[in-house]
Order: sequence, then C-alpha cells, then structure tokens
Amino acid sequence: MRILSDIASLRAALRSAGPVAFVPTMGNLHQGHLSLVRLARRHGGAVAVSIFVNRLQFLPGEDFERYPRTFERDCAMLQAEGVELVFAPDEGTLYPEPQTYMVRPPPIANELEGLFRPGFFHGVATVVLKLLNCVQPVAAVFGKKDYQQLTIVRGMVRQLDLPVEIIAGETAREPDGLAMSSRNSYLSAAERAEAPRLYRLLLEVKAGRISGEKALAALAAAGWKPDYVEIRRRQDLAPPQATERELVVLGAARLGTTRLIDSVEF
Ligand code: PAJ
Repeated sequence: MRILSDIASLRAALRSAGPVAFVPTMGNLHQGHLSLVRLARRHGGAVAVSIFVNRLQFLPGEDFERYPRTFERDCAMLQAEGVELVFAPDEGTLYPEPQTYMVRPPPIANELEGLFRPGFFHGVATVVLKLLNCVQPVAAVFGKKDYQQLTIVRGMVRQLDLPVEIIAGETAREPDGLAMSSRNSYLSAAERAEAPRLYRLLLEVKAGRISGEKALAALAAAGWKPDYVEIRRRQDLAPPQATERELVVLGAARLGTTRLIDSVEF
C-alpha cells in the first residue's frame, strides 16, 4: 500500500495503477468506510482512499478542531483491506492558496442539511471535485448514510460531465441499528444507549405509522434537539407528490453536543 501526501507523487503512482476506484473519507475509519472500500474493489482495478479533514465543509463553531484524527490506525485498516493507494494531503497541499473558486451547488443544497449547516455542501462539492481531479478514478463510492451528499455529488458529476461513475454504498449499522459514524465516538454511554432512537423513528415514518412531525416531537420528548425529519423523493430530494414511490426519509438531530444524521429509503 502506497501512502501519498502530495499531488505530484500521487499522479506518478497513478500512472502505473491502471483504472482506479476511489473512496473519499475524512478518516477515523469504521466498518461503514470499509464496506465502501469493498464495494470499490468490485468497480476498479486498484482501490484508492483519501483521508482529508476538509476545513471548507465545517462551519465556524463546528467540530473541525476536535474531529477525530487516527491516521496510523486508519492506514492499518486500509492495508488489511488490500487498498493500493492512500492519498492523505495536508491542508497546504490541497489548499495552497485560499480556495476562492468554489462549486456552487443548486438550491437543494440549501435545504435539509444545508438549512442547518449553511455552506456545507459548497465545501463538500468543492473538495470532492478537487479529489476527483487529483485521483481521476473510473468510479467513486459514496455512502447512503450521507444521502444528500450522495445526491449532490451525483448531480455535480452529471452536470459537469465528470468522467466518473458514482456508486452508492448501503449504510453500515451497529447491531442496535445506529448508523456507524466517526461522530459516534463523541457520545457518552447514556447517549450511546439513546442514539438508535433516530433510526427507529425513521423506520416508523417509513412504515407510515407516524409523520415526520411526530418523529420530531418524539425526539424532542426524549431529550434530543431535532433539526429535521422529512420524506423526499430519492432521485433529487424534492418534496414528493402524493402518489410518488422511490422515497427516502432523512433525519438529523443533536443528542447532547453530538449531531447525528441518518436516512432510510423506501
Ligand atoms: P466521511 O464522513 O469520512 O465519510 C466518507 C464516506 O463514508 C462517505 O461517502 C459517507 O457517506 C460514508 N459513510 C459514513 N458512514 C457510513 C456508514 N455507516 N455506512 C456506509 N457509508 C458510510 O463524507 C465525508 O467523509 C466527506 O464529506 C467527504 C465526502 C470525504 C468530503 O470531505
């Protein structure tokens, strides 16, 4: 496994790597990330993983500084998966000058997550475009856990004619249903026990037993600070018509100081 931290040596390594399937991450890897690595393995010759905590997608006051950085452990996990290339630039490498050219995603980026994290998807789309340009993969894998991110990346690739196939990976969950996330490590023991409620309520909404508003109320009653629970259409995350199928329920809520998001297709 080769670990590259600058773009020139990445490009040199890519020249002999053949077609690459790519998994961008912010590190602190868990089984969810590894499931994407395994999916990538089926779509390219070699697998490349990036590890980069992208300051552009954190708002002032969010957890950029304390975001868990576990580089050695991450590399050991990727090595065990047989990953060929790890691209781990530092900030000065990816952003040698202030990033004043930014991708401006369409209005859907200002809803759901974007309503509560203004500018988040500008930062995500910009770094994903840069990473795709650095790695030039034939396929790139994104998790459904971050459903809106997946949708926005798909739209960017389509509208900007990027020569890459976007593959969606299912959400890996803990045995009690909690979606795996690097941010789960922030939870206290009591919060960890409470955390699967978000997924359970999304399943209730999916089953038609409760509305999104009822789920919000149930979260608030259990001590959460919910941001949204909404049913949208899968394809573009627009509000669905009454008869529409191919839906997804998306939710986000804060438990203590930890913000959790999840989604379920139906
Ligand atoms: P990060 O949160 O590290 O996630 C990297 C990839 O892993 C994303 O595609 C995410 O959807 C996926 N993922 C996270 N938890 C998952 C789970 N439980 N099951 C399946 N997939 C999961 O998302 C980002 O980083 C960043 O925004 C990034 C795309 C790297 C741009 O900076």
